[in-house]
Amino acid sequence: MSLKKVSKDQPKDFEFNKKNLEEAKKAISNYPKGKQQSAVMSLLYIAQRQNNNWIPLAAMKYIANILNMPYIKVYEVATFYTMYNLAPVGNYFFQICTTTPCMIRGAYKLVDVCKKKISKKENEISKTNQSSWTEVECLGACVNAPMIQINENYFEDLDPEKLEKIIDKIGKNEKPQPGSYRGRTSCEPENIRKTLLENKNA
Ligand code: FES
Repeated sequence: MSLKKVSKDQPKDFEFNKKNLEEAKKAISNYPKGKQQSAVMSLLYIAQRQNNNWIPLAAMKYIANILNMPYIKVYEVATFYTMYNLAPVGNYFFQICTTTPCMIRGAYKLVDVCKKKISKKENEISKTNQSSWTEVECLGACVNAPMIQINENYFEDLDPEKLEKIIDKIGKNEKPQPGSYRGRTSCEPENIRKTLLENKNA
C-alpha cells in the first residue's frame, strides 16, 4: 500500500457551507465543554464530503481554528486514517481491502482488475475522469471476503468477473447493486450451517 498522497494543488481557502457549519456545530455539541477537539474526526469527514471526497490543507487549518487546536494535530489525524483522502479521487472511489482474509480469497486479483479497467497506478484518476482506486486495510466485512467499498457502499463475495461487471455498469452510468454477490444476507453462513461442526453440505 502506498503512503498517503497529499495533493500538490491546494485551494487557498476553505470554509463550511451553511448546512455543513450547522452539522459541525451539532457534532461539537456532542462533547462536554473543553473537549470540543474530540469532534475533529467528524469535522474532517464533513469537510471531505463538501469538497468532492478529499480534504485540502486549508480545511485542516480551518478545522483547527474552529476547534482551537494546533493544525499539526488535525493533520496527524487526517494522515493517519485511510478514510480521509488528501488528494482528489474519482467520483467513484474504489477501496480494495487487501488484508489477510480478503487477500487469501483473491483480493489481489481484484486489484489487477482495477489496474486494467480503472488506472494502472493506485490513486490515479481514470482517463474518463470517473474513477480511482486504492488498497485499504480491513473494512470489517471479512466474512464476505473478498470485498471492496465504492463510495459509501460495500460490494462483497466478489471475484474478478463480478468486479469487471460492476465497473462496466458504472461506466454506463448505471448503479451497481451493493451487498453480497453470492446472494448472502448480511454475513450469514453458507449452506445454512449454524456451526462449523455441522455438515457443510447440509
Ligand atoms: S480482511 Fe477484508 S474486510 Fe476484513
